[in-house]
Amino acid sequence: MLLPSLLLLTLRMVCQVLAVDYEMLIDDPDVFADCLENPPGAKGASGLFNLDELTFTLNGDKIHVEGNVTTVWDVEPTDRITASARLMQLDRGIWQPTVFSIATQDFCALMYDKDQYWFKYWTRYVEDMDAMKSKCVNHKGTKLVHSPFDINMVLSNVRGTTLHGRYKIVVTLEAFDDEKNVKRPESICMEIIGDCERL
Ligand SMILES: *[C@@H]1O[C@H](CO)[C@@H](O)[C@H](O)[C@H]1NC(C)=O
Repeated sequence: MLLPSLLLLTLRMVCQVLAVDYEMLIDDPDVFADCLENPPGAKGASGLFNLDELTFTLNGDKIHVEGNVTTVWDVEPTDRITASARLMQLDRGIWQPTVFSIATQDFCALMYDKDQYWFKYWTRYVEDMDAMKSKCVNHKGTKLVHSPFDINMVLSNVRGTTLHGRYKIVVTLEAFDDEKNVKRPESICMEIIGDCERL
């Protein structure tokens, strides 16, 4: 009896050792940068939102966010929005892909889905969420009011790889008119750069 339970205990300990939480700390007070390898026709964060009423302040090693953003992306409310986010690592001066990436073919169906990373990091702080659910980033002129928050980008339960040093998340959004089967010419590409640390 003792041996199997010891084995189980050991296994459990090994798993806990292997699963590590990391945090990405952003040091750029503007948070968003334009993409280094910008896809043709892509605009940065300011192509998606008017950020004039949003303030980022560096508070210790966290970025504090307050205020509002208003959607300015020139697409149609009926467009389907695809989104992707890729984590890249700066390795001897060259940005290299990592195994971490997420993508969705219908961002608007998931913008406020509590299991998504962007919900944990951002959309959970949007006020009046239930009313906002029907107004995704394809509704030009929509104002998102935030409850003030600190950016807290934690990557939980990472196994089989270590994250250390300089990283960036490359976020792209594209809009599709499915009826005419066309992609809108204007897409969004932005980067969030920071350092990954083990928690
Ligand atoms: C954000 O919008 C709300 C509601 O319209 C307004 O009361 C508030 O002053 C705005 N905040 C900023 C920083 O502009």
